Amino acid sequence: MVPQFMFLFSLILSFLLHCPPTLAQSPAAAPGPPGPTNVTKILEKGGQFSVFIRLFKATREDVTLNGQLNNTNNAITIFAPSDNAFSSLKSGTLNSLNDQEKAELVQFHIIPQYLSSSQFQTVSNPLTTQAGSGGRLELNVTTTGNSVNITTGLTNTSVSGTIYTDNQLAVYQVDKVLLPVDIFTPKPPTPAPAPEKPKKRSKAAESPDAPEDNSGAVSLTVLNDVVFFGVGIVAAIFSL
Ligand SMILES: *[C@@H]1O[C@H](CO)[C@@H](O)[C@H](O)[C@H]1NC(C)=O
Ligand SMILES: *[C@@H]1O[C@H](CO)[C@@H](O)[C@H](O)[C@H]1NC(C)=O
Ligand SMILES: *[C@@H]1O[C@H](CO)[C@@H](O)[C@H](O)[C@H]1NC(C)=O
Ligand SMILES: *[C@@H]1O[C@H](CO)[C@@H](O)[C@H](O)[C@H]1NC(C)=O
Ligand SMILES: *[C@@H]1O[C@H](CO)[C@@H](O)[C@H](O)[C@H]1NC(C)=O
Repeated sequence: MVPQFMFLFSLILSFLLHCPPTLAQSPAAAPGPPGPTNVTKILEKGGQFSVFIRLFKATREDVTLNGQLNNTNNAITIFAPSDNAFSSLKSGTLNSLNDQEKAELVQFHIIPQYLSSSQFQTVSNPLTTQAGSGGRLELNVTTTGNSVNITTGLTNTSVSGTIYTDNQLAVYQVDKVLLPVDIFTPKPPTPAPAPEKPKKRSKAAESPDAPEDNSGAVSLTVLNDVVFFGVGIVAAIFSL
């Protein structure tokens, strides 16, 4: 058995040694991407993403993304809004955003995982985007028949085409800009509970230099007092 194996091995080896040019060249001749993936180039080829590309560059997300894609461990899915998507926004929408909101808007269209069209069927909602996750940054994808529907709570749309896909990056066209609740609905006010205020103010009066972020500790103290007070009442009732 072993001699047979050795014979086979040396046969293969001598074959490889005698025919190196053709064997060595065939992988090199295979078509492959020259250099790392360039998202801007892919979007330019798509032909109808000039506004998204402009935002992409202005927010430096292109540099971030190309850097991430240069590491093959990272995978990305992009929902790229077409120029039509941007022109159907209420006029002045983009201009009303500050730089941070523009970045958040772009990041909201980027999912840090590779989703092939079949994976949309089993994806777990809500998706995390590059803008983050949570109640005000919700993005859900559902499928019905051949349609891949996306909802943010403010925007309902469907994937309208595949621009690019390999096993690391997928770029899909959407014909509406995905509007995150976080940017396009007013932030709810966060009023402090009424009992905290006098105590906080008196503490600040004692030491004007004390940083504002003491409020957490103060409210905890208040809470403890209330709890102890409550326990006291219960104890008093039971002792009667
Ligand atoms: C990516 O492509 C764009 C447009 O083709 C080009 O301007 C840019 O220099 C490229 N970036 C890199 C890192 O190659
Ligand atoms: C891609 O990564 C390699 C290896 O880490 C690095 O040498 C190269 O400069 C990177 N290229 C870009 C365009 O970031
Ligand atoms: C998904 O989108 C299609 C086409 O836009 C629409 O007809 C369908 O009602 C949507 N389904 C859901 C569950 O929203
Ligand atoms: C997204 O999906 C989650 C989980 O199914 C659900 O709780 C949430 O209400 C959905 N949000 C929107 C905006 O559809
Ligand atoms: C999005 O679709 C859901 C369910 O199909 C509907 O309840 C909701 O009103 C729609 N929202 C918008 C902004 O169209």
